[in-house]
Amino acid sequence: MSFDRSVKIAPSILSADFADFGREIRAIEDQGCDWVHVDVMDGHFVPNLTFGPPLCKAIRPHIRTLMDVHLMIAPVDPYIDAFAEAGADIITAHLEAGPHVHRTLQAIRGAGARAGLALNPGTGIEDVEYLLDMVDLVCVMTVNPGFGGQAFIESQVDKVRRLREMIGDRPVHIQIDGGITPGTAPLMAAAGADVFVAGSAVFKGGSAVDPAPYGVNIRAIRAAAEDARTAA
Ligand code: DX5
Ligand code: ZN
Repeated sequence: MSFDRSVKIAPSILSADFADFGREIRAIEDQGCDWVHVDVMDGHFVPNLTFGPPLCKAIRPHIRTLMDVHLMIAPVDPYIDAFAEAGADIITAHLEAGPHVHRTLQAIRGAGARAGLALNPGTGIEDVEYLLDMVDLVCVMTVNPGFGGQAFIESQVDKVRRLREMIGDRPVHIQIDGGITPGTAPLMAAAGADVFVAGSAVFKGGSAVDPAPYGVNIRAIRAAAEDARTAA
């Protein structure tokens, strides 16, 4: 698949109706999202539990765009093949999840998926430098991972700006995740982010049977990000 830095909106199904993932996914895709973001939590690396490879496998046939799987788990390596076999297009692991992230990224690409590297808000970008040629995406967490609906951490804007410089011409996406709204997206768009994960700000006000608000919400985030880029 070709690489581009256009603004992409990736709703997190953490804010969807857990009893109705198939219809929720169809709704957000019909309403114009670009990727579907799946938050996997293990109750150990983060203080919350969500779902694993069987759920990913079950929802994959409902996804026409990309399944973007964010692993908030430690250890990561024993589960990579299972998520790849479940149909993950992108598998993102945390830099903080273990001492051998280089090996983890090799394993993700070896399993046939695109590799993402996520950074917690307290983690600097220095350790990303020698991994840049092994990743397709760097995810800058703009909340502490574990829950939807938290407040955006403003200090991460500078991190994205510095990361964007470090990436240069490499085909590496900058994804931001947590507290993204039409109010916070412009700061990050101007700083260099191109993939905007949003849970509560996309799903608020709508449902699978009344999906129009999802479209309004997706377009509002996209427009805010695109306008900020034009102005930058
Ligand atoms: C946080 C998750 C995010 C989060 C986004 O641990 O990785 O994807 O659910 O949710 P909002 O947009 O509600 O902050
Ligand atoms: Zn996420």
